[in-house]
Amino acid sequence: MKIFIDSAKVSEIEEAFSSGFLDGVTTNPSLLKVAVDELTARGEEIDLAQYIERILTVAEGTPVSLEVTEYTYERMVEQAKRIYERFNPVANNVYIKIPINPVFNGAEADEFDGLKAIKELSAENIPVNCTLIFTPEQALLAAKAGAAFVSPFAGRIDDYIRSQNDIQFKKEDYFPAQGIWRDEQVLEDNGVVSGIDLVEQIVEVFLRYDMTAEVLAASLRNARQAREAALAGADIATLPLYVIKDLVSHYKTREGMEKFIGDVLPEYVELTK
Ligand code: E4P
Repeated sequence: MKIFIDSAKVSEIEEAFSSGFLDGVTTNPSLLKVAVDELTARGEEIDLAQYIERILTVAEGTPVSLEVTEYTYERMVEQAKRIYERFNPVANNVYIKIPINPVFNGAEADEFDGLKAIKELSAENIPVNCTLIFTPEQALLAAKAGAAFVSPFAGRIDDYIRSQNDIQFKKEDYFPAQGIWRDEQVLEDNGVVSGIDLVEQIVEVFLRYDMTAEVLAASLRNARQAREAALAGADIATLPLYVIKDLVSHYKTREGMEKFIGDVLPEYVELTK
């Protein structure tokens, strides 16, 4: 399974890539806002174009998803092409994020605008990461339209199931892959019992129909969920930096280090200098 960093902070992206095992970056408008707001609050002046170029350069050789902010077919396609033409020459690694369905309250968009945009961009060899996937059928249609990546938002499904059932939670809390049982019934959303279950169902559908799109498990909030995404067969997991760090953490590893370093023979250190 490939590991992407889910962040628009250059400092975090640099730190993650310094590990040597990173395979890409995903951003979204909210992540970009957090990154820019943080720098602005520190008194730094941001040239957004240069900032995005830095992200692309740090991640050179691996995909970086940049999202459209328009929400009708024509406008999404126009904006996607502008983003691609402006930024892909930097490091040849831009993927365009298109929502599966851009309709929301107040938006004059059509249910099929996302799919139409994916189809047109993919046909022009602009790679698309289809975002905001919450059902296997959305994923199937995105893949049929030509998306290179489909992004099920695992954590947000877990959040939704918990909030629909009045369960208090913190964003990073673990949600069991097999779901939460109450009164001998599993809590679910339209046949999906957890974010990981959603990922697993999509992987199964794609395998059954030989779909070439890669399943990018997104919105993962802890290391155990990343492990379960791998077990479910996700091609990619995109993770915040704190989760990437958690992947290499264990209490006994830390404890073992303390013991080994405490036991070091001075002669051994001398010998190996
Ligand atoms: C990545 O592509 C998504 O935008 C991101 O993982 C969403 O994560 P969140 O649900 O934690 O905001």
